[in-house]
Amino acid sequence: MTPVPTPSALRERLAGDLAAARARTLLLTDHDEPELVRQHTPLLSPLVWDLAHIGQQEELWLLRAGDPHRASLLPADVEALYDAFTHPRAGRARLPLLPPVEARGFCSEVRGRVLDRLDRLGDGDDPFDFAMVVSHEQQHDETMLQALNVRTGRPLLGAGSPLPPGRPGLAGTSVLVPGGSFVLGVDPADEPFSLDNERPAHRVDVPAFRIGRVPVTNAEYAEFIADDGYRNSRWWSARGWEHRTSAGLERPQFWGQDGTRTRFGVVEDLPPDEPVQHVTFFEAEAYAAWAGARLPTEVEWEKAAVWDPSAGRRRRFPWGAAEPSPALANLGGTALRPAPVGAYPAGASAYGVEQLVGDVWEWTSSSFEPWPGFRPMLYVDYSAPFFGGDYRVLRGGAWSVGSSIIRPSFRNWDHPIRRQIFSGFRLAWDV
Ligand SMILES: [Fe+2]
Repeated sequence: MTPVPTPSALRERLAGDLAAARARTLLLTDHDEPELVRQHTPLLSPLVWDLAHIGQQEELWLLRAGDPHRASLLPADVEALYDAFTHPRAGRARLPLLPPVEARGFCSEVRGRVLDRLDRLGDGDDPFDFAMVVSHEQQHDETMLQALNVRTGRPLLGAGSPLPPGRPGLAGTSVLVPGGSFVLGVDPADEPFSLDNERPAHRVDVPAFRIGRVPVTNAEYAEFIADDGYRNSRWWSARGWEHRTSAGLERPQFWGQDGTRTRFGVVEDLPPDEPVQHVTFFEAEAYAAWAGARLPTEVEWEKAAVWDPSAGRRRRFPWGAAEPSPALANLGGTALRPAPVGAYPAGASAYGVEQLVGDVWEWTSSSFEPWPGFRPMLYVDYSAPFFGGDYRVLRGGAWSVGSSIIRPSFRNWDHPIRRQIFSGFRLAWDV
């Protein structure tokens, strides 16, 4: 079992995680004011909204104990602008938002008080709310990357940091995961920073299946397009075909007709061995049908990622107990792209499945439902309002995800038509 960290080690880790998230937020919002107040798409907020909302949520959960009636450092009418449930993303640029300099000042004031509170945290206190706030900030850093990717104009972020090379011959290969039960989900005793929808750990039986050793690549996906996959309704579900035709989908988002793609404003040749990105669930599902396969369920995905059949227990990460590092997975947001398939042999799971964590969020066939015994966390509206809605679960985290917040049990969800997210997929097969 995982050794439980001491309270002082947890405090130290959280202070580091808070600092890393903030450094990332400030880097992603280090642009001129016109860039920050601009809404690039109705699907995403102007960056200046994300910035102050990060501080507002941190203050709410860590300085006001989640009680909106407790006074904020902001006037009540200003604070209310940053309530994500009352102000949909499409209208946020029209709100009288705090200018960037005031938003940064507010975030910094809140952070100072939060670090004082962290210093005073006693050995009997549960630091979960701090971890929840780190996760929240990192998740907004990722949506800010989505906005910066959709953005048009002169590139702001460059081409991204270097990545390891891939290994040839892996695309299209699969591994067998024999049938049998495994432990799905986690308990706070083993994963104190896990969010409500990942809990509790419970045993489930999973029939045998095969799963892609690596995610589907750009080259593989291009074959589907070349084979008129977008013109042939037989590969698509009824809803998927209706969306494909009404939205006029012809290829993944950001792909040109000429074998190029646009990434953070940079136009480049499509790298053939990189996992395909920016596809909807419906496109992933159609590709899988064309390839004679299907998408994995999220339960299959998690088993392939964490179960160690010879030890009869879960690993913390696919590769074992070590925290994620650049040798094991592409995380943290600086690469600005997925790594080619085969780039992380040391990151393979016990079954030999690679690149499960990092690179691209992977669509699964599962809708978003609670595990049996689900109990909402402090932020009660994080998961529960979305259960049973029109969502599909994505697993594994993308290159854009902060390395301190991802776990194989982490569950992301989105509408099946979304693709501004860093979404790809891998295949599965019945046996
Ligand atoms: Fe939020």
